[in-house]
Amino acid sequence: MEKVPQHVAVILDGNGRWAKSKGMPRNYGHAQGAKTLEEIVESSAKIGIKYLTVYAFSTENWGRPEEEVKALMNLLGTYLKKCLKMSIKHNMKVRILGAKEALTPELQKEIENLEEVSKDFTGLNFQIALNYGSRDEMLRAMQKMANDIKEEKLSPEEITAEVFSDYLDTRGIPDPDLLIRTSGEQRISNYLLWQIAYSELYFTDVPWPDFHTEELKKAVEAYASRDRRYGGVKEERSHV
Ligand code: IPE
Ligand code: IPE
Ligand code: MG
Repeated sequence: MEKVPQHVAVILDGNGRWAKSKGMPRNYGHAQGAKTLEEIVESSAKIGIKYLTVYAFSTENWGRPEEEVKALMNLLGTYLKKCLKMSIKHNMKVRILGAKEALTPELQKEIENLEEVSKDFTGLNFQIALNYGSRDEMLRAMQKMANDIKEEKLSPEEITAEVFSDYLDTRGIPDPDLLIRTSGEQRISNYLLWQIAYSELYFTDVPWPDFHTEELKKAVEAYASRDRRYGGVKEERSHV
């Protein structure tokens, strides 16, 4: 495949509606969504994608019914355990984006271990956004910058786009080339607002549990046909 995006970000949406359409409870959709994620992680690496960043739980998702939040947290715990095995098997480096302090001590321990074990792995870079909100991420970054200025580790004149990026949870990770949202909604829902400044957007009606490898390939093909201009003009061998 030509022109494979280096970094693909995904808003995996539609688990609940998918389950409902089958007469099943929402949590069944989340469980199925976790399986689809395993498949997509493997196929991303095969396609040649270097960075995959998925939105698993937003800062706003705490507002869901208590039962659903509980089920999602349980599922994430199970998923992280599976992820550790996958990361070792596939040489995959895993990082969690978001405010980890609000998660249970068990989840935090799981995350710490997963990040530590996989930190030098050189295969796919897999980021999971968990209790993540872009505004929250930027506010935490600004608080940290303000503290560093107070402690004279940073001066206001030194703040550039690169410096700011280094204060974000995505530090060291290139900006997404392609952002995919499944299940028909065409909004960003507080995801990677700074990082997607020039990402190509791809929306599909396919609900996340049905987003199999073929669908990922379609998104990558759509990306390959896009013309990224970054505010410039289309590159043409024309006489100027
Ligand atoms: C995405 O599916 C998973 C999470 C947000 C955790 P949803 O749970 O949002 O499913 P819909 O959008 O209600 O169908
Ligand atoms: C975005 O999906 C968050 C995640 C995929 C984790 P939501 O389903 O929460 O977003 P809205 O509520 O439709 O904007
Ligand atoms: Mg949703």
